[in-house]
Amino acid sequence: TLSPTPAHKFTFGLWTVGWQGRDPFGDATRPALDPVETVQRLAELGAYGVTFHDDDLIPSGAGEATREETVKRFRAALDAAGLKVPMATTNLFTHPVFKDGAFTANDRDVRRYALRKTIRNIDLAVELGASVYVAWGGREGSESGAAKDVRTALDRLKEAFDLLGEYVEQQGYDLRFAIEPKPNEPRGDILLPTVGHALAFINALERPERVGLNPEVGHEQMAGLNFPHGIAQALWHDKLFHIDLNGQSGIKYDQDLRFGAGDLRQAFWLVDLLESAGYDGPRHFDFKPPRTEDFDGVWASAAGCMRNYLLLAERSRAFRADPEVQAALAASRLPELARPTAEDGLAGLLADGSAFEEFDVDAAARRGMAFEQLDQLALEHLLGAR
Ligand code: GCO
Ligand code: MN
Ligand code: MN
Ligand code: MN
Repeated sequence: TLSPTPAHKFTFGLWTVGWQGRDPFGDATRPALDPVETVQRLAELGAYGVTFHDDDLIPSGAGEATREETVKRFRAALDAAGLKVPMATTNLFTHPVFKDGAFTANDRDVRRYALRKTIRNIDLAVELGASVYVAWGGREGSESGAAKDVRTALDRLKEAFDLLGEYVEQQGYDLRFAIEPKPNEPRGDILLPTVGHALAFINALERPERVGLNPEVGHEQMAGLNFPHGIAQALWHDKLFHIDLNGQSGIKYDQDLRFGAGDLRQAFWLVDLLESAGYDGPRHFDFKPPRTEDFDGVWASAAGCMRNYLLLAERSRAFRADPEVQAALAASRLPELARPTAEDGLAGLLADGSAFEEFDVDAAARRGMAFEQLDQLALEHLLGAR
């Protein structure tokens, strides 16, 4: 069970293993990777699928003939390798035209271009079988106060999702959108910075049912938030349409480490949650093999993402199956949390003297929660000590 197979639904972006290592301080350390080679290597490693930004596949500015030839070659590679394309997205951040954003750029003609660029790639995504379209607000944001009127920018962002939804419906596409929150980088501040902001925004859209989330581990952690908690709430709202798995060490620049690196404890609780909640979407890795690595390191890093997920799933199963853990969960009164607070209704609650008049507040305050014993058991399972 530690060997990845397509049934595990592991997917990778072309831009992840294909990252050449360019950062704000240094040039590329690796040559470009041919998407066809990526498809072959990922299939050999046991992946289920591959995802892409329009420009990862078709260099921006390529003519129609090159575009058709490239797509044909890519599709042939997918068919030969048996790899799927469950998701695609748009690059609305690399070209200098997007320096002030795309759907919320102050320049109206840039906004119209961004929508047309997105619609063009939606057609390709659907043609290749994708059912989720990710929207990461790369440069939707600002570095200074007056530069962006946030309320008006949100009007434009809503307008964009409403138009894209209208297009998808008009075409009869079976495609849903997944918004990817991020607090900052490359802009000083990005709109829809966290899962919570994005969830609230979706309710204001014309087609809220068509729009959900693509949360990324590191992005919530850049904001100091508990990622498994955010995912639990997204699941509770039925909005976990997709997920970007990677690693991050605390509140600093977006590290995009391989899954399992960074905060291992949160990674454990995340896998425990996804596996027990019955999330059945792709387990998508959005990581960057560090620029210290050659291609052997790149493929080792990709394999590590999948192996770490499977190891954590195995640790989570052992944790849940352990009778001592089950007793510890009961001691911590988790089953009691699952019981409604007032199945007797408001009238019953108000009539219940034991709930207030006769309630022994001091005795209740003295009860220990036994969380430390429970968490120690979790840590021992995570460390392989049980
Ligand atoms: C990041 C983001 C991006 C997006 C991807 C999809 O690390 O800042 O995760 O990688 O997920 O570009 O648009
Ligand atoms: Mn990231
Ligand atoms: Mn991402
Ligand atoms: Mn990323």
